[in-house]
Amino acid sequence: MTYILGIDSSCDDTSASVVVNGSRILSNVVSSQAEIHEKYGGIVPELASRRHIEMIWPVVDEALKIASVRLETLSGIAVCQGPGLIGSLLVGSSFAKAVAYVKGIPHHLEGHIFSVFLLEQRPAFPFLSLIVSGGHTSLIRVGGLGSYRELGRTRDDAAGEAYDKVAKMLGLGYPGGPLIDDLAEKGDPESIPFPRALIPGTYDFSFSGLKTAVRNYIEKVSLNISSERSLMQNVCASFQAAVVDVLIKKAEVAVKKEGIKSVTLTGGVAANRQLREAMKEMAERAGIELYVPPVALCTDNAAMIAAAGYLHFVKGDISGLELNPRAYLPV
Ligand code: KG4
Ligand code: ZN
Repeated sequence: MTYILGIDSSCDDTSASVVVNGSRILSNVVSSQAEIHEKYGGIVPELASRRHIEMIWPVVDEALKIASVRLETLSGIAVCQGPGLIGSLLVGSSFAKAVAYVKGIPHHLEGHIFSVFLLEQRPAFPFLSLIVSGGHTSLIRVGGLGSYRELGRTRDDAAGEAYDKVAKMLGLGYPGGPLIDDLAEKGDPESIPFPRALIPGTYDFSFSGLKTAVRNYIEKVSLNISSERSLMQNVCASFQAAVVDVLIKKAEVAVKKEGIKSVTLTGGVAANRQLREAMKEMAERAGIELYVPPVALCTDNAAMIAAAGYLHFVKGDISGLELNPRAYLPV
């Protein structure tokens, strides 16, 4: 049995998880900092690292307790090396090194990619990975561990970032994704024709124009927005429809052109109900398999880091104490 302790502290969640043989989750503890950053409408890096320092031991301790695993039993520790906020990453990697077991060096995006390996049914290689989170929006062709071809990525804001910024404009809380998801449920997605940046000839995304269009619209109707709930719901539904449309269209073209049989949807925005539904329809249309983790494994968590770490570990791809976190780290 290979017991991997996964640690993720790349952004604003402190998470630790124990995973057996790369797929069976014994524990997956996530301590969210949302209430700390909420009043600023976004993540304050300095506050994030301080909170990670406070939480890392209690979170790891709880993950080990829930799993009934002692530190000595661990085969390895998989800590997310990057990308992310450097102060936050440093807390996780210094902690892992201090425990002196650092084995395996998963990339944060590898964590999102291989979060689907925690499912009962796994996709066969090659598969198309659509990662949609607060920091990334990428379409990656995954040929195996370490074999990644990024077909496209966002040229400006990540989709989750657009959700968070639009939520801020609407005076909603942070993170904005789940709040917009809820409001959109009751709105009319066709009520406001927000733009879709399709950037022909590439698989790249762009969400900053959409964000500006929403801002302009809100300014135009500002007198009513907070008092009229249905207007708020319509803005959310129309914004969400624009995001989902673009993601689905690009993924569908990529599936066809690349001749791919399986597609995965991961990252925080993969928690979105509309996106999950639209991906299901797309997969049915295209006659391919779709793999989407449950919501808790879509948003940042350490089980996905442990799953990716396991794959490195069994390959003998193990790092030593010289491991250093990196805020920017290509996959
Ligand atoms: O993967 P994640 O936890 O962190 C990063 O690696 O960035 O993703 C966080 C992002 C946030 O922008 C959040 O607003 C978004 O995922 N998100 C959602 C939903 N739940 C979380 N976006 C849309 N709908 C949701 N239900
Ligand atoms: Zn993430």
